[in-house]
Amino acid sequence: MKALIIYYSQDDSTRIVAETLSNKLNTDIVEIKDKKPRKGFKNRLTSSFDAIREVKTEIIPNNVDVSNYDVIYFGTPVWSKKPSPAIITIIDKCDLRGKDIVIFATMSKSGGTATLDRMEEKIKARGGRVIERFTIKTKGKSKSYLKKYSEAYAKMLDLSLYH
Ligand SMILES: Cc1cc2nc3c(=O)[nH]c(=O)nc-3n(C[C@H](O)[C@H](O)[C@H](O)COP(=O)(O)O)c2cc1C
Repeated sequence: MKALIIYYSQDDSTRIVAETLSNKLNTDIVEIKDKKPRKGFKNRLTSSFDAIREVKTEIIPNNVDVSNYDVIYFGTPVWSKKPSPAIITIIDKCDLRGKDIVIFATMSKSGGTATLDRMEEKIKARGGRVIERFTIKTKGKSKSYLKKYSEAYAKMLDLSLYH
């Protein structure tokens, strides 16, 4: 069973989760970068607006070939109770027919359920089947806490996916 993790992260939290899962579950991994400037107060407002309105963005890589994978993970930070524009953009470019999908989101404190619901809708529309989903609260959490938490999730996912 071949798995790929696709993630976007602006400030490292989602990256830590994605990299930990990838190491523990031996998956391939692709980071999606957003070409639009996202740092700073003004850009944060635009980012929130873009997330709420689901404005597409230019991403690097422009596309990901998922045809060789059975299981695909999508990870994103929560932006204004929505998935980040970069992850919505890549989901809408992938052919997910027949694929099992795991989705996860990191957030300060809330909006994770709405974010994952929206991702799940998008993924279903592209033919994917969401088999697992989880959120992680990051506010005030150290990198080592996020790593430990993700390791615990990796164990659980390993069991549900491979046995
Ligand atoms: C534009 C923007 C909007 C955000 N909106 C929310 C939100 O609605 N709820 C929440 O709990 N956290 C929100 N956050 C915080 C992030 O979801 C949180 O810090 C996340 O773990 C960051 O992940 P990253 O380090 O991978 O970028 C927002 C952050 C940004 C930059």
